[in-house]
Amino acid sequence: MKIIWMSDPHFQATGTIDGLNPRVRLASAIEHMNTHHSDADFAILSGDLVGDEIAGDYSAIAPYLRRANIPVHPMVGNNDDRDGLRAHLDLPPQTMPDFIQYAIDLDGARLICLDTQKLGSHAGEVCSKRLAWLTQSLTECRAKPVYIFMHHPPMRLHLPMQDDIMLDGGDHFLDVIGEHDNVKHLFMGHVHRPTCGTVRNIPFATIGALSFQAPAPHPAWEWDSFVSPPEAPHYGVLYIHEGNVTLQYVQFCAYDAGLEH
Ligand SMILES: [Fe+2]
Repeated sequence: MKIIWMSDPHFQATGTIDGLNPRVRLASAIEHMNTHHSDADFAILSGDLVGDEIAGDYSAIAPYLRRANIPVHPMVGNNDDRDGLRAHLDLPPQTMPDFIQYAIDLDGARLICLDTQKLGSHAGEVCSKRLAWLTQSLTECRAKPVYIFMHHPPMRLHLPMQDDIMLDGGDHFLDVIGEHDNVKHLFMGHVHRPTCGTVRNIPFATIGALSFQAPAPHPAWEWDSFVSPPEAPHYGVLYIHEGNVTLQYVQFCAYDAGLEH
């Protein structure tokens, strides 16, 4: 299967975020995907669809996503609103009723898109209800490889500021998925930077944002002095075939696309 992985568009109906116009960035990503990757099975948008001002942003982002030639499956991040998302965006019919959490079976594998939102917090959680659903999903397809997408990483990534707003209870989450040997890879948004590695022998990858990027951890920075680096955005092209995974990061526009200051 071939999947386009996009994350963190931080869409706003009006205005800019950190000097960038998120509408220009998202439109550019969708156009690039349509031009070069219309053969993909679908796209996954791994959270933070909107920014801090939510009112009107989901109705405004919907027509941008509908321009895609392939289905775009949305997920929630810390900045999202489940009700707003449900009201305006298409979700797979098997999505949990209370959470934006679902599984997609394709080509002998299962993709799981988790809802890691913790209301009132920029950190995340997978509560007992979501964890029970995950355990059931992993158990019922124990013969299949499973690939998990989640907004919040369940462990520290040596990214100073972001490490403070990871998944609460990450160790327990890793204990739970560690009981199943069919979890083959984790894919995470939230940190606005590409990283890769392993956690408890499970490979993982993070990805940059469609909107603004986060600075490298050195020189040290804090939220109060946050300035996004002059790095172009990218999305991921993911090939999963017979248990093999290839992820390519693809720059879809110049850094100054959408720059308004
Ligand atoms: Fe984000």
